[in-house]
Amino acid sequence: MSETREVLELAVELARRAGALQRDGYERDHEVETKSASIDLVTEVDRACEALLVGEIRRRRPGDAIVAEEGSARDDTHAGWRWILDPLDGTTNYAHGYPCFCVSIGVEQGGRREVGVVYDPLRDELFHAVRGGGAWLGNRRLAVSRVETLARALVATGFAYDVHRAEDDNLVHFARAVKSAQGVRRGGSAALDLSYVAAGRLDAFWELKLHPWDVAAGILLVEEAGGRVTDPRGGPPPWDGRFVVASNGALHAAMLEMLARDLPPGTGRPAAG
Ligand code: IPD
Ligand code: CA
Ligand code: CA
Repeated sequence: MSETREVLELAVELARRAGALQRDGYERDHEVETKSASIDLVTEVDRACEALLVGEIRRRRPGDAIVAEEGSARDDTHAGWRWILDPLDGTTNYAHGYPCFCVSIGVEQGGRREVGVVYDPLRDELFHAVRGGGAWLGNRRLAVSRVETLARALVATGFAYDVHRAEDDNLVHFARAVKSAQGVRRGGSAALDLSYVAAGRLDAFWELKLHPWDVAAGILLVEEAGGRVTDPRGGPPPWDGRFVVASNGALHAAMLEMLARDLPPGTGRPAAG
């Protein structure tokens, strides 16, 4: 078996196991703490999922680097295999019992995205992608939608945890999208949003101030499903998720054009293509 296959199989196994922890803890009382802001939450289930993922990766692949959201691992090396983990994406939903959350595992080799796995434990939906091998939901190969105009598009976004105080709060883009698209959603899990673009359930997604763990798996899923992911100027998507625009490809220019109308002066127009 190729090493990429082994990594994929481990990522799938661990995503399912962490997802089972989320399912078991769902709608129970949680120990909820805050992080960067009063609306930035972490529960004991986020931490239990991260401990499981990090512990098993260290045990089974001791040479690999790991970056994990809750801080149990932050390896800077880009040399070999590196796992980028969001142990529970959608924590606000989880803490409220709103059924939209997942495990997200992206794996790079030499700084290049190779494997992406997103698991939604309530729907038992497992999304996976391997570079050059397509994107899949279970055994079904995924393809992005064919919608070509914003007026026919269902798009999604999200808001960072500094939204109460930040000036660049995404509300101006959100307002413009509400007036331009067929519908706008705010599901509360960026990894599922990206998986849904890959699956053709959403036609596009954008968000500012994401983190590497929010996008590491989802970017590969969208690309392998035939879509496009860039920064707001049409350049490569930022590794840290600072400002990510994902679409079915057909809509990409329209998305960049829409977002550019409200970018700060001097940010420039998006590159063509
Ligand atoms: C959050 C979710 C949400 C997005 C936030 C993320 P978390 O991740 O992906 O949809 O809008 O920006 O931080 O905190 O639930 O892992
Ligand atoms: Ca997240
Ligand atoms: Ca998280």
